[in-house]
Amino acid sequence: MRIFITGGAGCLGSNLIEHWIPAGHEIFVFDNFATGKREVLPQVAGLTVVEGSVVDGVLVDRLMGDFKPDIVVHSAASYKDPSDWLEDAATNVTGTINVARAAEAHGAKRLINFQTALCYGRPSAVPIPVDAPTAPFTSYGISKTAGEQFLRMAQIPVVSLRLANVTGPRLAIGPIPTFYKRLKAGQKCFCSDTVRDFLDMEDFLALMDQLLGETVPAGVYNVSTGEGHSIKEIFDIVADHLRLSNIEQPPIVPPGADDVPAVVLDASFTNATLGWHAEHNFEQTIRRQLNWYDQHGVTDIYSHLAAQPTSR
Ligand SMILES: NC(=O)c1ccc[n+]([C@@H]2O[C@H](COP(=O)([O-])OP(=O)(O)OC[C@H]3O[C@@H](n4cnc5c(N)ncnc54)[C@H](O)[C@@H]3O)[C@@H](O)[C@H]2O)c1
Repeated sequence: MRIFITGGAGCLGSNLIEHWIPAGHEIFVFDNFATGKREVLPQVAGLTVVEGSVVDGVLVDRLMGDFKPDIVVHSAASYKDPSDWLEDAATNVTGTINVARAAEAHGAKRLINFQTALCYGRPSAVPIPVDAPTAPFTSYGISKTAGEQFLRMAQIPVVSLRLANVTGPRLAIGPIPTFYKRLKAGQKCFCSDTVRDFLDMEDFLALMDQLLGETVPAGVYNVSTGEGHSIKEIFDIVADHLRLSNIEQPPIVPPGADDVPAVVLDASFTNATLGWHAEHNFEQTIRRQLNWYDQHGVTDIYSHLAAQPTSR
């Protein structure tokens, strides 16, 4: 298939490329390298990489018109400066509109969008069903939610995946790389008193393979194991992995002002509709990630939160 991936140099995009190029798909990556890195993309036949921003609607339209994708995967997103509302709105709202319009104009069969669980804001209970109301309250969450709302008006089938924390090669956000890097450097940590769900990259890739098929119904899907785990549980696994058995216990601090105490997605509609289930459990997923850091190290760490960046 011909697959156009915005933000293809990012964590999810680059894993998709590593997975799909050997399967024989033709892939076009469009990325401004705001958080992605060109060097993670292999120089191989079947992969074209162009630098630019999804905010440039004329360029998006021309590139998609030349490539004529069967599938558009919209993975580009802005989040790295929580105070830069204009960049978040430009990339996550205007950029999403540009991608949808170009996909419609050039006959893509499906647009697959990635959405953050922060669209649900501070849910009253977890796990959060996919039909729970959206109530985002951060620049990233608000702009991503507006982008997803625009996609509901697109004239082509759109599948929007509301994702748990996908954990796999090149993960550079959240508590796992943070604890790994700090504990390895002998630095102290603290744990925010929060609960999150984690999804192994292999489970995410298995779902993405399924979405290339003809029969997947358009719609919005939660993608998660449905299991919540505390940040302290991650700290304990990282400490155990690094064989720091006598380490000082980290303080558990209340969630920051822009944080959410518990985010766990209920994927039962996805399980029932698509027949997809996560195969890896929490501990396997975290340990697989730590083994990857042992081999490749941790690079930059980004956060979409303004407060307490070292806790996640
Ligand atoms: N990784 C997760 O667990 C997770 C969870 C929820 C939602 N998501 C969503 O999945 C998508 C991918 O996330 P990721 O973890 O790979 O993040 P990432 O930062 O690694 O990838 C995003 C990519 O988008 C690129 N980009 C940013 N602004 C752009 C612009 N204006 N034009 C073109 N490219 C631009 C970045 O350079 C980067 O390569 C995002 O839409 C994100 O909101 C990811």
